[in-house]
Amino acid sequence: QWHDASNVSKIVPYNPDNPLLNPVLTAIFQQAALKVVNGDEDLLPDAMVKNCSNAKHGDYQCQSAMPMFAAMKKSGNMPATIKSPKDVAQAIIDHLDPTHLAVIENISIQGPGFIVCSITKSYLQSHLIKWLASGVLPKPPIPQTFECVVDFSSPNIAKEMHVGHLRSTIIGEAVCRVLEFVGHHVHRTNHVGDWGTQFGMLIQYLKEEYPEVGQEADGGELPNITDLTVFYKNAKQRFDESAEFKKTAQTNVVALQSGDKECLKIWKMLCDVSRKEFQKVYNRLDVTLEEKGESFYNDKIPAVIQEFDQAGLVKIEEGGAKCVFVTGHSIPLMLQKSDGGYGYDSTDMAALKYRLQTLKAQRIIVITDFSQGGHFEMCYGAADEIGWLTSGQRLDHIGFGTVMGEDGKRFKTRSGDTVRLVDLLDEAVKRMEDSLRQRITDGKANITEAEVHEVAEAIGYGAVKYFDLRRNPTTNYKFSYDQMLDTKGNTAVYLLYARVRLESICAKAKADHGVDVEELLKAGEVPVLEHPSERNLAKELHLFAEVLETTLDDLFPYHICEYVYNVSIAASDFVTQCKVLGVPEMKSRLLLCHATMVAMRQCFDLLGIRHVKRI
Ligand code: ARG
Repeated sequence: QWHDASNVSKIVPYNPDNPLLNPVLTAIFQQAALKVVNGDEDLLPDAMVKNCSNAKHGDYQCQSAMPMFAAMKKSGNMPATIKSPKDVAQAIIDHLDPTHLAVIENISIQGPGFIVCSITKSYLQSHLIKWLASGVLPKPPIPQTFECVVDFSSPNIAKEMHVGHLRSTIIGEAVCRVLEFVGHHVHRTNHVGDWGTQFGMLIQYLKEEYPEVGQEADGGELPNITDLTVFYKNAKQRFDESAEFKKTAQTNVVALQSGDKECLKIWKMLCDVSRKEFQKVYNRLDVTLEEKGESFYNDKIPAVIQEFDQAGLVKIEEGGAKCVFVTGHSIPLMLQKSDGGYGYDSTDMAALKYRLQTLKAQRIIVITDFSQGGHFEMCYGAADEIGWLTSGQRLDHIGFGTVMGEDGKRFKTRSGDTVRLVDLLDEAVKRMEDSLRQRITDGKANITEAEVHEVAEAIGYGAVKYFDLRRNPTTNYKFSYDQMLDTKGNTAVYLLYARVRLESICAKAKADHGVDVEELLKAGEVPVLEHPSERNLAKELHLFAEVLETTLDDLFPYHICEYVYNVSIAASDFVTQCKVLGVPEMKSRLLLCHATMVAMRQCFDLLGIRHVKRI
């Protein structure tokens, strides 16, 4: 939630240049409604308009007549001419400013007093012309840009990245891109698990198995631990089997925390090996992260504990653990364990303070699986209680659901192991390569064998991402290659093909008709919205800024997926119903194709999906 939301007047100024429709329509209806109630703002409801769920009825609806009627009745200020909400609706319509009819038309009253209207072609056209000329889709206006921290991906050193980290990585990258697109500065933070007791056993195991490591002054070559999961498993096995090993492992933890040179060297080496593996995945997925792992906060923890202590918020639990109880939670945050060590809670509180006070983040977003929701609620609650939050700061946790196999159980390999991320990505690409080769064999492809791998990577990774992003992150889903690679469903594959089809229409226009879209743009040609499917496409396109605004608020990238899918459906409807090439409307229609391509590409960029020019 936003901390300390400020009170603002509900009266919205009329600004027809606003790329968001909702405030434009709100202003239009507010102005008329205010005249009906003789300027008494208090008699107007907070929300004036909403999208019509069924486009057949119209684009927008103002549902204020009913609450206004009730409020007027209560205030005792009811004009004699008004007997029902319907009369209020009619009065609003009668008071509409005539110049506003450039924006809305087909105004009618439905049901008990809903005012339904549609957006005029000329309004949609004027906005379309403007953004075609600038080449970029309009952004929602934001009051100010600020510092954000997005904590995502965040795998653990010496452990394999699994499908849960994939979700965090994919969602986090999209969230960062949306925030950056509107101008915010984002710290793309990889809070890797690079500290903690497990390093005692890992260091000990490495010392035993690779005695030569760490001896050279410069730390020597990186050990060849290609499969870190196996390394981790073996270390754990030694730890569980041998009491002696366990003991030495524990002394290593103490040594590491107190800065022992050799332990630090080995620790760093293990981190480097993991880091290299993680980076390979990030490179494949076009993900950018700055590593600031748990170890970074280690020396910042004592001051945090002291601060809570001085505020009288620390309770010493049995065994001596230092705990902070947060209102509304039965279990406490543990700032220090009974053995004096620091844990996950300690680190996250130090991280929170650092992000709020040193980075001066206005918005902090952590993306993990849903099971950590309570943990972050407590951290945020404690930050509030200690007084770290200032007005306007907002803290979020996106808790995503579980990825399941097609059997409906937790996603596992046939042998029951967790699925390695790299294998999963390889498989998506391999399947895409097979299907592209089939297209080449069938003579349907516009690419050669030499391009297959690159295109398969773009589509394969795009498909994996879109399959995740297109739903509410809080839901669980079944991982299905068949579904995500389906050329007909709501998939990245379908969308990428749809965009390529438009691309080939434009290419044909140039080759067969000598009409170049870029030239049309330079010459200031404008799209005309005559046919209903043209107008409908323009309307779908227009919703971009709205969709972005919604995404900025709830941080769910699925709004963008819905948008790009709806645009693509409207575009396919348009090219089915309207001939583009060789007709008198060719220029106008090519511009619509071009606008759609720009919009789709922009969405792919925001979702982290590479676009392809030919398939
Ligand atoms: N390393 C953790 C995991 O794999 C995620 C860390 C999320 N970020 C944080 N600040 N706790 O589950």
